[in-house]
Amino acid sequence: MAFVTALTVLLAATGSSATPFNRRATDGLNIRAVAAGKQYFGSATDNGELSNSAYLSGLSNTADFGQITPGNSMKWDSIEPSRGSFSYSGGDTIQQLAVKNGQKLRCHTLVWHSQLPNWVSNGGFDNATLISVMKNHITNEMTHYKGKCFHWDVVNEALNEDGTFRSSVFYNTIGPAFIPIAFATAASVDPDAKLYYNDYNTENAGSKSTGAQNIVKLIKQYGAKIDGVGFQSHFIVGSTPSQSAQVSNMNAFVSLGVEVAITELDIRTNTPATSSAVAQQAKDYAATIGACKAVAKCVGVTIWDYTDKYSWIPGVFSGQGSALPWDDNLNKKTDIYNAILNAWGSAPTGGATSSAASSATVAPPASTSAVRSTTTSAAPAATSSAAGPVVAKWGQCGGVNWNGGTVCESGSSCTKFNDYYSQCI
Ligand SMILES: *[C@@H]1O[C@H](CO)[C@@H](O)[C@H](O)[C@H]1NC(C)=O
Repeated sequence: MAFVTALTVLLAATGSSATPFNRRATDGLNIRAVAAGKQYFGSATDNGELSNSAYLSGLSNTADFGQITPGNSMKWDSIEPSRGSFSYSGGDTIQQLAVKNGQKLRCHTLVWHSQLPNWVSNGGFDNATLISVMKNHITNEMTHYKGKCFHWDVVNEALNEDGTFRSSVFYNTIGPAFIPIAFATAASVDPDAKLYYNDYNTENAGSKSTGAQNIVKLIKQYGAKIDGVGFQSHFIVGSTPSQSAQVSNMNAFVSLGVEVAITELDIRTNTPATSSAVAQQAKDYAATIGACKAVAKCVGVTIWDYTDKYSWIPGVFSGQGSALPWDDNLNKKTDIYNAILNAWGSAPTGGATSSAASSATVAPPASTSAVRSTTTSAAPAATSSAAGPVVAKWGQCGGVNWNGGTVCESGSSCTKFNDYYSQCI
């Protein structure tokens, strides 16, 4: 009986806090990233997941996610499953969601050896024909999404672990020139999109990172444009590169004249995760966020979906998972979440009175791309008080590692729900 009563109270408390908190959030992963001078903190997503309304609501919370990336629906096999036949509905759904939420869109990916239809990989095309097939694919897809993608991953995973070019139909037929040709084509279609090379195991100095730097040089040698390099950052708890190693690696790319981004971050461990693994994971997340924070030209971080429920890890790495800041039940893992928050730095000062939707308008650094996929609605600017940040009703006002305001606006008072969360009600 006592249990039932307690549960009822808990449910009531959750019910009264969850919805307004989402609507009125004044802090979150994206808000902190933007306060640290970044353009976004974002998440990958996928079409099948969007029918889960709780998931969708979390993804659409721009306090946490200022950018989304389609996990699969803009890949070649989704977009051009047979030659010359283009299918945009899956990609469009995610693009339209980004517009609706006021989120930026990282578009992923144009030229990749994987998830490539058989008609391309086994088409037997000669050099000139495959170049025209590739150009046609890039041109069609980028024209369709022109002005809607603030980043494009133009070429994905072109390298072996030793930094040499991976065997693929593109490399085997066209040679290394497939990369600069792809970038030149992309630049001609949507000159405003930031064009990225994206790969994994390039987050640390070494042969593969050097190979990726050579790709940047190759593209420039051809006179083509590359704007950025994405580090996928599919890490493992306890063997994530240190913050300083990631910073110096990023700087090696920045010195070549490109920006960088962390594009597919997750940090996996054996499941179920032990408490010591979680403690290490929090440090590994902090090291990675801290590296991006420390490098001015690191523009943002994307996690490869936000919940373990939809993580790719368990399906690919047997016995591993628990790689993301939300668990299988869409519950926030406070240790990991707070580690990311705190690695970005303190919350913006000034009790924001704006809604979550307007948090998307927390100004990113001025750039044309920053606003291209964002429809902003007029929203009151965050108000600040000389007496320090005053938290609006429904906002967070306390909890472990909370760095924001603790004084509630008049008419509400700070009420503790648990060690990690107090709210102005
Ligand atoms: C294919 O054609 C392109 C463009 O003419 C050229 O740069 C590249 O070297 C050629 N590749 C091979 C393997 O001949």
